[in-house]
Amino acid sequence: MTSVPQPIPFVDLHALHQPIQTELDAAIAQVLARGDFILGQAVRDFEAAFAQACGVEHAVGVACGTDAIALGLQACGIGKGDEVIVPANTFIATVIGVLHAEATPVLVDCDPHTALMDLDAVEEAISPRTRAILPVHLYGQVVSPRKLREIAAIHNLIIFEDAAQAHLGQRDGEIAGSIGMAAAFSFYPSKNLGTVGNGGMVVTANSDVAERVRSLRNYGAPKKYVHVYRGTNSRLDTLQGTVLKVKLPYLGQWNQQRNHAAQTYDRLLTPLKELGVVPMRNDSGLGHVYHLYVIQVNSPHGDGGSPPLRDGDSPPLRDGGSRPLRDRNTLSQALAEQGIQTGIHYPIPCHLQPAYRNLGYSAGNFPVSEQLSEHILSLPMYPGLSDEEIERVVYAIKAHLSTSS
Ligand SMILES: Cc1ncc(COP(=O)(O)O)c(C=O)c1O
Repeated sequence: MTSVPQPIPFVDLHALHQPIQTELDAAIAQVLARGDFILGQAVRDFEAAFAQACGVEHAVGVACGTDAIALGLQACGIGKGDEVIVPANTFIATVIGVLHAEATPVLVDCDPHTALMDLDAVEEAISPRTRAILPVHLYGQVVSPRKLREIAAIHNLIIFEDAAQAHLGQRDGEIAGSIGMAAAFSFYPSKNLGTVGNGGMVVTANSDVAERVRSLRNYGAPKKYVHVYRGTNSRLDTLQGTVLKVKLPYLGQWNQQRNHAAQTYDRLLTPLKELGVVPMRNDSGLGHVYHLYVIQVNSPHGDGGSPPLRDGDSPPLRDGGSRPLRDRNTLSQALAEQGIQTGIHYPIPCHLQPAYRNLGYSAGNFPVSEQLSEHILSLPMYPGLSDEEIERVVYAIKAHLSTSS
């Protein structure tokens, strides 16, 4: 009888929560007993602990990461008529957050080897209306703080970080969330620090910004029934706050496990470069917190730097041109047949999303982002992913790509 291999999920929240189940149960029971469901004690405790972990003075819990971007930008004084520079290769929520702040997102392309915002392109996109740069610490890798500050200082711009994928990520000794005027986090369940529903946070060293977010999230009222700002209802609820408070002390070790898993993938995938598989580059060593582990499959960027394809170019051929390359989609399907789940982050760049055509972009505007969207594949990544499971994933990739079509 042949044995069916255990599936390898893309993320495994059950394995993460199981060892701390008793702590979670007790914390949730305490909230139920106290009944302080809105802006209760656990939210205040978690805000204080998260601010400290990020190395900033203030943290203000909101309903989700998208609201953290929108309210955070508003609190930094950004609104109608202001341009905010964002990467085209991000989750759409980055763009939505800017639009909800009533500002104009100005998109730029990304680096082909890290997939992070291209900082040369940022400089080119600056106009007299630009007020802020919004770097996204994509996949868990922090965008270079030194370069960001250089550009921001020359052009007198605010830096507002989208740190939704990079809780406690570091680069050059700086922690995600402490680099700009303010930063947004998401606690969506599968994030490095995730809750059991929706949640988000604005962190900042600026007490005025923090106070404004506190009002904006609570109907714009710094004092009950006194509505100084046009706010909304966007609070981190106490049950989510208490779950996050229990999980935060484990985040460092979970991030280390992610980084270890990534190093194992990197090592085992090195010989697969010949087959067209190249991992995204890590420019920040142990500071990369690997929310996602992303490879490029037979990408024009997979050789370390050939120029992007233009319209009309043919895709590259291997094996002396005798057969087309195996593509990302067939690889992902082959892995699924082995019980290995994968993802794509993201299959359609923001500028090509149907709802945002009115931003005025079209196909060809951001060739690197467009090409990555067709060649990237995110492999299973979560704390507790074993070396044996990673070996199985890599073996399955190799088996598929080595077979002729
Ligand atoms: C880069 C990025 N920005 C913003 C968000 C929005 O966060 P949320 O889903 O909590 O609104 C997410 C995650 O979903 C994200 O990955």
